[in-house]
Amino acid sequence: MSSYITRKSPGDTTWFTKDRFGMFIHWGIYALPARHEWVKTREKITEEKYDKYFEHFDPDLYDAKDWARRAKAAGMKYAVLTTKHHDGFCLFDSQYTDYKSTNTPAGRDLVKEYADAFRAEGLRVGFYYSLIDWHHPEFPIDMLHPRRDDKDAKEQSQGRDMTKYAAYMRNQVTELLSNYGQIDVLWFDFSYGDRHGEGDLDWMKGKGKDDWEAEALLKTARDLQPNIIIDNRTEIEQDLWTPEQYQPQEWIKHQESGELVTWEACQTFSGSWGYHRDEQTWKSPEMLVRMLINTVSIGGNLLMNVGPTARGYLDDRAEAALAVYENWMKYNSRSIYNCTMAEPQLLESLPPDCRFTQSEDGKRLYLHLFAYPFGHVHLNGLAGQVEYAQFLHDGSEVLYTEGEVKHFSEGAAKDEKLLVLEIPHIKPNTTVPVIELFLK
Ligand code: GLC
Repeated sequence: MSSYITRKSPGDTTWFTKDRFGMFIHWGIYALPARHEWVKTREKITEEKYDKYFEHFDPDLYDAKDWARRAKAAGMKYAVLTTKHHDGFCLFDSQYTDYKSTNTPAGRDLVKEYADAFRAEGLRVGFYYSLIDWHHPEFPIDMLHPRRDDKDAKEQSQGRDMTKYAAYMRNQVTELLSNYGQIDVLWFDFSYGDRHGEGDLDWMKGKGKDDWEAEALLKTARDLQPNIIIDNRTEIEQDLWTPEQYQPQEWIKHQESGELVTWEACQTFSGSWGYHRDEQTWKSPEMLVRMLINTVSIGGNLLMNVGPTARGYLDDRAEAALAVYENWMKYNSRSIYNCTMAEPQLLESLPPDCRFTQSEDGKRLYLHLFAYPFGHVHLNGLAGQVEYAQFLHDGSEVLYTEGEVKHFSEGAAKDEKLLVLEIPHIKPNTTVPVIELFLK
């Protein structure tokens, strides 16, 4: 068995660590300015001006079934949609606000369509819910807020009652976890309790678990859906560690106990979560596939983001990136699903520029060739342990020798623990070739 023991947590993460790959979806009225989902605060846009986007939000090409089909084709097994982002706009028909999709030209509950469509495709359904809210009248102005530089920001903030906002969140979470069937992931975002404004602005306080009344908020969620997986971003530890926009180098450990934890890296195709028309840093196919492999090779999940357009479709760049995963996962997903970090003694034989994953039953070891070497791959330590080897993408046999390298050379390596794979000189036509090793 290669399954590692991870720290116990309140939700049920069994399915999650088998499924490994999910789709993050950042969608809201920030898709209209198309300049990042933080545009309202980056550009300090007033409520009145930001209302233009509310009034013009008309996603006539939104087809949740199409998103779901594409996610599934890309090999993703679950999804997490922004039901509300920091701008406060709700994609669902909440009875606690008018600031919602049903009151825009969209005229519909877009979350419902998403949940139904993804579930129908057999994907698990998750909700992102922003703790931050730059629209709610009771949310006190702080250093992240669009009104932070207004001369009368302090006066504007006076009388704002955070407890009312905390109650609003509990009400909305109740709606989200009551009206849309089984929800598998709840992704709160985010806390910044340790920050405060500088100089004259030190009255501005960041917000954290006490402000959110996080304990009560989490209880509300657990009472409604006990097994749901919840992230740690309320500042109270739950099930999920969520490294964002960087790739961990090793399995994430619990800060105090040192135990391995359940984690999910979240990443974007380009440098923005929301649709960003002019952003150009789109990741290459190799990078996209490697990021997925890297993540699983150290025991994590990958939540890869799409930012649909204002009209509701995934633009050609996002479609192309999803197609990269589709083409690779179609033939290689066996090295991802139900796989995790290889056992420590196997990792010792990991060659340079490669990554291992191992099936949870321990029987198969997957060797991912990030840089395709010439002729041979040396696995020092695996001699005697492999029963059969093949390329995963086409099931074609990979021959190997044990104890020595067979080639015409005086300095041919000899080592009784050495297993040498003989690989074709031309890299197979798959973004990252995988060799499946059946262990004895
Ligand atoms: C950040 C950003 C946000 C994005 C999130 C995704 O915390 O505030 O825009 O939704 O990361 O992880």
